[in-house]
Amino acid sequence: MLLVPLAEAYSVPERGVVYQVMVDRFYDGNQSNNEPFYDPTHTSYRLYWGGDLEGLTEKLDYIASLGVSMIWVSPLNDNINKMAHGSAPYHGYWTRDYKRIEEHFGTWKDFRELVEEAKKRGMCVIVDYVPNHSNPAMDGEFGALYDNGTFVTDYYRDTRNASVNPYTGIREDIYHHNGNIFTWSGVPLKYANLFGLADFNQLNPWVDSYLTEGAMLFADSGACGFRIDAVKHMELGWLEAFYLRLYSKGPLFIYGEYYSLSPERSDDLHELYRYSNVSPVLNIPIREDIVRTFGFVGSLETLSRTLEDYYSLFVYPNKQVNFLDSHDLVRFLNAAKRDDAVERFHMALALTMTLPGIPVIYYGDESYLVSKDGKGDPYNRPMMAFNNTTEAAHIIRTLAELRKTNDALAFGDFRTVYANYSVWAFERTFGSHRLLVVMNKGSPVGLTLNLGWPDGKYRDALYGAEMSVSDGRASLELGRNGFYVFHIEGEQKEPLIGSVTPYIAQPGQRILIGGAGFGSSGRVIIGGVEARVLSWNSTEILVEVPEVKSQKAWLDVVVKTGRKASEPAKLRYYSGNDIPVLLAFNASLVNVSFSGTLWIRGNLSELAEPRPLLKSSTGYYFTVAPLPNGTAFSAELYTGSPWGELEPLNVTLYGFLNSTVVVLRDEPSIVAMPTTTVQKPTGENALPYLLVALLLGAALIIWKKRG
Ligand code: NOJ
Ligand code: CA
Ligand code: CA
Repeated sequence: MLLVPLAEAYSVPERGVVYQVMVDRFYDGNQSNNEPFYDPTHTSYRLYWGGDLEGLTEKLDYIASLGVSMIWVSPLNDNINKMAHGSAPYHGYWTRDYKRIEEHFGTWKDFRELVEEAKKRGMCVIVDYVPNHSNPAMDGEFGALYDNGTFVTDYYRDTRNASVNPYTGIREDIYHHNGNIFTWSGVPLKYANLFGLADFNQLNPWVDSYLTEGAMLFADSGACGFRIDAVKHMELGWLEAFYLRLYSKGPLFIYGEYYSLSPERSDDLHELYRYSNVSPVLNIPIREDIVRTFGFVGSLETLSRTLEDYYSLFVYPNKQVNFLDSHDLVRFLNAAKRDDAVERFHMALALTMTLPGIPVIYYGDESYLVSKDGKGDPYNRPMMAFNNTTEAAHIIRTLAELRKTNDALAFGDFRTVYANYSVWAFERTFGSHRLLVVMNKGSPVGLTLNLGWPDGKYRDALYGAEMSVSDGRASLELGRNGFYVFHIEGEQKEPLIGSVTPYIAQPGQRILIGGAGFGSSGRVIIGGVEARVLSWNSTEILVEVPEVKSQKAWLDVVVKTGRKASEPAKLRYYSGNDIPVLLAFNASLVNVSFSGTLWIRGNLSELAEPRPLLKSSTGYYFTVAPLPNGTAFSAELYTGSPWGELEPLNVTLYGFLNSTVVVLRDEPSIVAMPTTTVQKPTGENALPYLLVALLLGAALIIWKKRG
């Protein structure tokens, strides 16, 4: 068997730390690309300040010195060449061409060089990608869109070509033409312009291919993952199909930005949770709680409960993405109003790096970068100040290095040992690896904790503080604003899975299994079927997902070494060759009254978890799902609220998939045919599809009559 050496491939993201860079504000490596809209004085926050890919590459040794292993770069695609709403697109979120690199930042060659140089230093590059919208619809270049330099359309031209989709009620072509988002839920949330940005109609087959090809260019140039912008404003079903196609390139690390500032139980949080079962998200809902508790006032006991509740929502809490500062929120040191703000910043930083989830360090957090001119966007994006000799840098480096060797940091569970207003101790365990994190934001205390660690003395990783354990009781002293991390790295003898990357997959896709005790060889079983092993070492296994005859959403992944088998990990399974499909049916098919949301669940893996339906202004219910082409299926309707039990409505609907729009019927006898919005591929004859559809329809009738 040919085994691919892992060093050449991908690494388990949970064992790493991400460093987030706003490219324009990092380092100017090439002064010839700075104009136009350039401010050499770095005083106008809405102009370009000169940073570029060459500058970033030049500073890779500095970034590597912090112990981080992934660099998240702000969007790199070609942005509009005009000012809009009083700003230049220095931030990169106003794309005009998804196949080209912004000329202020460099070229594809510069990007590939960044990837290569980063790789030499043990790091990889994650690209911020923006598939929800292009650029301002009513200013600048008015939603102008180019395909590798060739003009495609703009928002006004697109209005003329647009027609109303009969099933969603949205006027659309390349873009949606539904005004700005005015209601932050339901149809407008996904089908209207976010802050006036031209909103893509991802279900238009050209848009779907164009956005997918654009992202593929980065994957083909060596990106190891993507941060996907504004996922809240796109159909989850489209994102699933988009990600599955990207994963054909390898086990990329993709996480989404779902903007939601609080973890209160709401429909919105439910949607975030639903999304997180497809891809990790930035932990935006807990970030404000952390800043408030350390930067202002607040109880650590309350925080501990909030965080425990939050993490308990996720199938893979350790793949969620933690951050303290970002380009969208006020930097901690700009927000906190306390004499001991810097000490509290150190505590909050260390907490971000020890909670379940992969930490992100925002550029300049290691050098206490703040702005004197203001607080939030755009003032949270000052020019980088390089200093890796600070205490903050020490915390980042130490905990990043510890994460590479201590699997409790990467994959451990999360249990509060003790908490009161100003003291918090939590433990994280993964097999034979353990971690104890203790902090105190009040007066000095002596702590005695019940801890089942072996008797002995332990040294904190950050400052060398001592803890002694005797008869299962740990004793230590904690000064004001003290933060210690104690750890154990025992030998793991049994196979134990920590994570699967990515945790959604279809047959033929490669996934990376991270964990411990894997030895030097063995077998991997997915949904009862043996997977082809591509590489194997004691902590990482690369396998190819087999075809599994299953209608379940989640399959078990088990690692077997000799006679020992790991506990199963979960993999969200898709049947393969999925395309994004608009599923719709006439509202008159639901002739019973109900309250709450309407849900659909069907007899394919893709439909095994209930999907909520939206109601259109044209009298249809609809949703988007990734579905395997050429498949007949049936589905049931349910009602209920997102957090409650769903009630069956006893309505069965049938569909056959041969286009990107499937209209469900209440009888399998009528095969759903392509509808108006489907573009027939040029030069293709529809007759074979028609015959297959009719044959399958007939087969279904016979099958139903027999049953
Ligand atoms: C979220 C990004 O983080 C933010 O900076 C950007 O302006 C919006 N999405 C729109 O793309
Ligand atoms: Ca430059
Ligand atoms: Ca949208």
